[in-house]
Amino acid sequence: MARAELRCPRLPPLLLLLLLLLPPPPLPAFLHSSAAAAAVDPPAWAPELDQPFQIPEGWISRGRVAPAERLSLTFALRQRNVGRLREVVRRVSSPDSPDYGHFLSLAEVRSLVSPSSLTLSSVDKWLEAHGVRACQRVSTMDFLQCSVPASTAERLLPGAQFHRYVKDARSVVRSPLPYVLDQELAEHVDFVGGLHRFPAERKELSRAWAVENSPLGRDRRPAFHLGVTPAVLRQRYNLTYADAGTFSHSSQACAQFLEQYFHQADLAEFMHLFGGTFPHRSRVDQVVGHQGSGPAGLEASLDVEYLMSMGANISTWVFSNAGRHESQEPFLEWLVLLSNTSMLPWVHSVSYGDDEDSLSRAYLERVNTEFVKAAARGISILFASGDSGAGCRAVSGGEHTFRPSFPASSPFVTTVGGTSFQQPFLVGAEVTDYISGGGFSNVFPMPDYQVTAVKHFLSTSPRLPPASYYNGTGRAYPDLAALSDNYWVVVNRIPMPWVSGTSAATPVVGGIIALINDRRLQRGLPPLGFLNPALYQLQGGGNNTALYDVTHGCHLSCLDAVVQGQGFCATPAWDPVTGWGTPNFPELLRALLA
Ligand SMILES: *[C@@H]1O[C@H](CO)[C@@H](O)[C@H](O)[C@H]1NC(C)=O
Ligand SMILES: *[C@@H]1O[C@H](CO)[C@@H](O)[C@H](O)[C@H]1NC(C)=O
Ligand SMILES: *[C@@H]1O[C@H](CO)[C@@H](O)[C@H](O)[C@H]1NC(C)=O
Ligand SMILES: *[C@@H]1O[C@H](CO)[C@@H](O)[C@H](O)[C@H]1NC(C)=O
Repeated sequence: MARAELRCPRLPPLLLLLLLLLPPPPLPAFLHSSAAAAAVDPPAWAPELDQPFQIPEGWISRGRVAPAERLSLTFALRQRNVGRLREVVRRVSSPDSPDYGHFLSLAEVRSLVSPSSLTLSSVDKWLEAHGVRACQRVSTMDFLQCSVPASTAERLLPGAQFHRYVKDARSVVRSPLPYVLDQELAEHVDFVGGLHRFPAERKELSRAWAVENSPLGRDRRPAFHLGVTPAVLRQRYNLTYADAGTFSHSSQACAQFLEQYFHQADLAEFMHLFGGTFPHRSRVDQVVGHQGSGPAGLEASLDVEYLMSMGANISTWVFSNAGRHESQEPFLEWLVLLSNTSMLPWVHSVSYGDDEDSLSRAYLERVNTEFVKAAARGISILFASGDSGAGCRAVSGGEHTFRPSFPASSPFVTTVGGTSFQQPFLVGAEVTDYISGGGFSNVFPMPDYQVTAVKHFLSTSPRLPPASYYNGTGRAYPDLAALSDNYWVVVNRIPMPWVSGTSAATPVVGGIIALINDRRLQRGLPPLGFLNPALYQLQGGGNNTALYDVTHGCHLSCLDAVVQGQGFCATPAWDPVTGWGTPNFPELLRALLA
């Protein structure tokens, strides 16, 4: 299930072990055969038969919705020239290419990827034939969002059956059964959004709770801790008072999909308490989407407060798709917005993830292509690597495997892992935070930019888990890391300690990248864009002072007899626990200004 990368209450290891040993629930019958597809006439095609439908914990079915009830569907139309767009990204993101930094505008992206006129007209005809007219396009033409009555949606998408699910005050409409499309549409549509995936779950939690309730936490954590504040981060990552934005067109953003709000008053209070040592702004400049009037959320407050403390004095946007429409997929909604907005912040920090194996192939590939589009435009997108270490997937009757997280596993985003201070009272060396998400994709092959670094890790790591637990040929993550432990956050006017997770690390790195962009823009250079090719080239070249290499500690994984809870371990140079390590701002700036 989708989740925020904030630390969750930990189960005692024994209970966890028991849960892992239980057989997984049987798959719904439709996943075993394509009988549903075969029964429909004319010839049909199921784009997302591999999308598991699981009702997340706490949601209750309220039965089928009335035929007239309106739903919002998102049609992902087949794009053209995706291969060429990837080639563009390779050139504009590689420092040694003559085209480095020659990013495309949104209009140029559209002229490459917009669907063929045959695709556009075929889909239009199909929708019109069902009386669907209330549709909106994005400027790249490759998404179409339509409002349709449930009865029409069920005719349009044979097999689908719309039910209402409720949890607390929330309510969504979803189909527990897979949909099919006319075979003729197979070459025109990637998938239809708004049917299967549930909205992200809110798992906000202060570490205080976890420490007190988890034996693992109690063993490993001191009862008192210095706590991470902007001053601690700025000291550790070597930012001086003067390291703040000065260029008026610099910008940065964070995105929320969790029905979470931040409050400008919390941000002001946070800066009042913790912003004394650097020039800063105390207001978010732009909120895109809906900000509800409810209490502030921990996740949203954390993102904004730390993005604006590292990317100090830089104009900040918050994308907040909180509950805009009950049947939407908020994450997909954000991607649609990116394709429909020509002027976007240069850096986006996103703390959100799903298990890679919980998503259909069509969806994974398409979301990945959306990141390719952003990279072509020079936009840096950072994702939290997740808070479950290597993760664990119990395979019925077989051996366990690690469980990669997506979008962390996309080769076109920069993924941020987590660290802790080696000594809790000393702003000094960092070690692995054992929750730091990391591993290898089972879907996306290893991109060229990281092959040397990852092969070096695989051939030199003294303690590799058995090869059956991971796919050493996939995209490996994270790319780098930052502190993820014991943050102070102001939420609903109250300062809260012990907030932890890679959610915290991601806006820290996001703000630092935005600061480097600020310096580049000031000099008339383009922004950094998709960071990874430059990052791996920089670190692989033996220039190891731009990041503090984290070489101690292992992260979590399956609590079984074979790996006994241990995933990968940090090593010198790149590793799938903390990537290349944590930023040393002046050196990273120097290297990325060259
Ligand atoms: C995209 O933006 C245009 C112009 O602002 C708007 O008319 C259209 O409805 C938007 N599309 C979607 C899918 O929101
Ligand atoms: C950064 O800070 C570390 C210790 O925190 C220090 O050793 C180093 O000299 C500082 N400056 C640079 C440019 O690395
Ligand atoms: C903050 O940024 C603005 C431009 O957005 C700049 O004019 C101002 O001088 C900056 N403040 C400091 C203290 O650097
Ligand atoms: C391993 O990853 C590759 C992509 O890099 C994929 O093609 C292959 O199916 C994966 N293997 C397994 C067992 O998941």
